[in-house]
Amino acid sequence: MPNEPLLAEDVRKVYAPRRGPRIDALNGVSMSVHRGERVALLGRNGAGKTTFLKIAATLLAPTSGRVEVFGHDVGRAADLVRPEIAVVPQEGKPFFHLTPREQVYTYLRSRGMSREVAHDRGERALAAMELAEVADRLAITLSGGQKQRTMVATVIATGAPLLFLDEPTIGMDPFARRGVWQSLRDLTREGSTILLTTHYLDEAEALADRLYIVERGRVLVEGTAATLKQEVGGTLRVTVPQGARLTETLRTFGRVVPDGDTVHVIVDPGRLTEILGIAVRERLTATVGPVTLEEAFLRVVGRSIDDEAG
Ligand SMILES: Nc1ncnc2c1ncn2[C@@H]1O[C@H](COP(=O)(O)OP(=O)(O)OP(=O)(O)O)[C@@H](O)[C@H]1O
Ligand SMILES: [Mg+2]
Repeated sequence: MPNEPLLAEDVRKVYAPRRGPRIDALNGVSMSVHRGERVALLGRNGAGKTTFLKIAATLLAPTSGRVEVFGHDVGRAADLVRPEIAVVPQEGKPFFHLTPREQVYTYLRSRGMSREVAHDRGERALAAMELAEVADRLAITLSGGQKQRTMVATVIATGAPLLFLDEPTIGMDPFARRGVWQSLRDLTREGSTILLTTHYLDEAEALADRLYIVERGRVLVEGTAATLKQEVGGTLRVTVPQGARLTETLRTFGRVVPDGDTVHVIVDPGRLTEILGIAVRERLTATVGPVTLEEAFLRVVGRSIDDEAG
């Protein structure tokens, strides 16, 4: 499909710093993001997420490979790509000498919006990020989370066809994070497409239609939260406090994760009654919960680290 919002093929990036060895930050990343999707890039610190986002957002040239945004090459046709995208950079800060209201308005005007449109869109984004109370204070006086909300407001106000958000909710309180999730859902409903990174796996689960896990500059797995969870070998986690002495028996039900004297077992729903029966017979309590995306992530990335090590 030539007009995919984002299409990346075999992207490599080697950093050659003045001091120290060269760094292979991306080792052949391929991915696609379809229209109206919200896709999350997950991965440990240094995995290559920001590097990929910068390349896709025309801010950094790849060493090799191809990245197209709506059919335009991000290197050769950056001028055609930029009007289609908006970026929340990692650790970006609003301009300290402007208020949130001025920053959002000025940015929208610089993207060519009329006064009326810039005003209306800006006010809506400030309200969505609950910045009304601080909208006329200089950015330098805002709290960390308020600054971050200003950055997100500036970008969601654009309603750009493709949004890149690098750890957009970092430092935000739980209410503010949910405000961002809702705004991003609204944007995709209106036709925008979103690629974001996050270390909050509950956020990835709440927000992303699809996930890519990146490790050492490579895509380790791609899929929905549900398919990634299948990687851990079941969909339920049974926790048995004081269950350590039953470890061998519990192992026959699925993967066992010891945690002091407590044992967690990842099981399929079909075997739940059986395992709970054993706990009751042994006069132990057991609690049941869903497997989380965090567990799947630890499993998938952990396995890759082990493979690499040995
Ligand atoms: N300008 C640069 N010069 C040299 N090396 C760099 C540069 N930027 C990033 N790197 C290195 O490239 C690798 C990937 O970094 P990147 O910032 O893409 O990771 P990340 O997945 O975004 O990590 P985090 O979760 O910590 O933000 C790291 O090893 C990093 O040290
Ligand atoms: Mg990063």
